[in-house]
Amino acid sequence: MSTVLPIDDDSYCIAMGRLLVMYTQIDYLIMCACAERIATAPNEEMKLMLGKQVGDESRHVRIQQEWMEKFGTDTTPVFTEQHQQRFLQHFRELNWLNFLTDMYVCVEALGSEAVEQIVPLADPGTRESLKTPLQDEIDHVAFGLGQLKIELAKLPHKQRMEYIESISSRLDFLDDALNDMGVDIPAMFQAVGADYRQVVDIVLERRGEILQELSMLQAA
Ligand SMILES: [Fe+2]
Ligand SMILES: [Fe+2]
Repeated sequence: MSTVLPIDDDSYCIAMGRLLVMYTQIDYLIMCACAERIATAPNEEMKLMLGKQVGDESRHVRIQQEWMEKFGTDTTPVFTEQHQQRFLQHFRELNWLNFLTDMYVCVEALGSEAVEQIVPLADPGTRESLKTPLQDEIDHVAFGLGQLKIELAKLPHKQRMEYIESISSRLDFLDDALNDMGVDIPAMFQAVGADYRQVVDIVLERRGEILQELSMLQAA
C-alpha cells in the first residue's frame, strides 16, 4: 500500500507534503506538551492517560516521518522553532481546565476533524498513514472531553455556563496563532483540492456539538 505513488501531479504532492509536515509537527508538539503536563496532572489516572498519549503521539510522528520519506516530501518545517516554543509556552501557562479545553477541544477534536476532511482527497498511501493516528485521536478526544466534563461538573452552575460560553473564544487562539505565524491554512487546504469553506463549516458544526454536549451537563 505504502509503495503506491499514484500521483504524477507535482503540485498535489507538494501541497499534501506541506499538510503532512504540519500535521507531524503538531503531533510532535502535542507529545511535548502532554509530557510536560504529566508532573502536574491532578491525579494518577490522568498521569497514566497523558503518558499513554505521549506514546501514541510519538508513534504518529514516526508513522508520518516514514511515510513522508517514501512520499518524497520536502520536510522543511511549517512551524519555526520560535512558533513551536510559543505553542509549548501557551500550554505551559494554562491551568488544568484550560489545558483540557485547548488541548482536547481545540487541537485534538477540531484539529482531527479538519484532518478527517482531507482523508477522502488523499492518495492511498497518505490515507493509510493517517489511519492509526486518526483512530488514536478518537481515544484522546474521549479522554479529554471526559476529563473536561468532570472538571466542569465541579463548578457552580453559573460559572460553568459562563465557562462553556467562553470556549468559543478560546478556540480563536489557535486560529490567531496560525495567522500570526503567517501559515496560510486556507491555501494549504485548497491546494490539495479541499473546499476550505466546507471544512470550516464542518469543524464549526463539530464545535457546536461539543459545546452542546458540555452544556447538557448542567441539566444532569
Ligand atoms: Fe496524534
Ligand atoms: Fe492525539
